[in-house]
Amino acid sequence: MSHPNGMEGATIPMWIEDIVMHKGAEATVTSGSWLGKSAVLKLRSPRGYRTPKLDKKLTRQRLSVEARVLGRLQLDNFPSPSLYDLDLDNGWILISRFEGKPLYDSLNEDLNSLEKIKKFGKLIRKLHEFGISHGDLTTHNVLIDKYDNLHLIDFGLARIFPELEHLGLDLQVLNECLTSSHSEYENAVDIMLSGYSESDSKLPDIISASEVISRFNEIRGRVRYHA
Ligand SMILES: Nc1ncnc2c1ncn2[C@@H]1O[C@H](COP(=O)(O)OP(=O)(O)OP(=O)(O)O)[C@@H](O)[C@H]1O
Ligand SMILES: [Mg+2]
Repeated sequence: MSHPNGMEGATIPMWIEDIVMHKGAEATVTSGSWLGKSAVLKLRSPRGYRTPKLDKKLTRQRLSVEARVLGRLQLDNFPSPSLYDLDLDNGWILISRFEGKPLYDSLNEDLNSLEKIKKFGKLIRKLHEFGISHGDLTTHNVLIDKYDNLHLIDFGLARIFPELEHLGLDLQVLNECLTSSHSEYENAVDIMLSGYSESDSKLPDIISASEVISRFNEIRGRVRYHA
């Protein structure tokens, strides 16, 4: 098989490649099958503007955090891809493929989708209660299927055992995404926050939804003040 980032000739055990689904700034995502299962290969390409040493370090860091988070979420039956295989040196992970499209597309195609935004808020709370922050919560990083099931992806900037600030920042990144990319949904942020609050399990020893929302409001205020 051949790859755009110098992996020519490298073979990935049990992997049969199909088509390139996404070629982004950081990663190329290809669909295919692995041991007969529907899968995607996420290959991190070297970035020309970084020194090769820094690039390799960042690639390893992001892939290894993504793999660790996926492994952890799998244990909890969280809706995110299963981890099949990884190779930190060659910069790839193989994960299960979800039959769905980015929520971004779904919200733009059907303008009556407030309920999906609320569901997304609930899912984020669940993630936070597992002790994980996402780091890049946009509507491109959550996939939705025809039954409106959501599936979270792209954990390269996630943190295990995040601080309150990281949880608040997750909501702020999504706030920016919803207000800039989905401005036709007037109450999107409030609806997302209501989903987030509703799914607070109120367990002791977990940072509560209201603490995270207060921190988010503080961050939002800071950003406004400096804008
Ligand atoms: N497990 C999966 N199942 C189905 N589609 C996927 C899966 N993982 C990724 N994709 C598709 O590939 C796209 C990019 O994947 P991902 O978000 O993980 O990479 P990325 O780090 O955002 O890439 P870049 O930053 O270079 O844009 C997703 O938006 C989605 O369309
Ligand atoms: Mg992404």
